[in-house]
Amino acid sequence: MAHCGTEPGRDCPHCPRLVAFRESNRKTWPDWHNAPVASFGSSDANILIVGLAPGLRGANRTSRPFTGDYAGQLLYPTLLKFGLAKGAYGEDPDDGLTLAGCRITNAVRCVPPQNKPVGAEINACRPYLVAEIEAMKQLRVILALGTVAHASVIRALGLKQKDWRFGHGVFHELPSGLVLADSYHCSRYNTNTGRLTEAMFHDVFEELANRGRA
Ligand code: URA
Repeated sequence: MAHCGTEPGRDCPHCPRLVAFRESNRKTWPDWHNAPVASFGSSDANILIVGLAPGLRGANRTSRPFTGDYAGQLLYPTLLKFGLAKGAYGEDPDDGLTLAGCRITNAVRCVPPQNKPVGAEINACRPYLVAEIEAMKQLRVILALGTVAHASVIRALGLKQKDWRFGHGVFHELPSGLVLADSYHCSRYNTNTGRLTEAMFHDVFEELANRGRA
């Protein structure tokens, strides 16, 4: 499969199910972004945060990762609290918020039905994750939000899943010197069920910010 660069084109053709969903969404909501969502933040950052995929009414609508949905209401204030963002989060790509020392991307760049990408879609999008990681020359820490992001990063780095199991709050010291940190995804489901509390999320970001600065 021919891929190039860190960002898929607006009409990326690789995943038939996601293309069909995108076309249907373009008809239903012609004013929304309805296209692959580009990464946010400078490629010179030390930290890369990897989410799952754009939310239908969040990034798929607004065009900025985690912007306009529940997950962003936890993520962006947390970034601001630990000095990894500047400004104010206004749930809008024009809110003026900037990232400081981190970049945000997704394991899958297009919105999937029911928020659940299938294996073939995660695999088809991985070359963009690989390109993203390779483009970040100052990269020290990758934070995976959830098990899908974790597994995709492990494969992107050519490592074996069995050697690097997902664990909330674990900072894996990888052979290359890179660190892979894991957190449960900041989804409404995880916070409603109590799997992830704000305090648990903050603990991960406190260490992440320290390691990114170190
Ligand atoms: N928005 C994103 O961009 N990614 C997620 O994983 C969730 C919401």
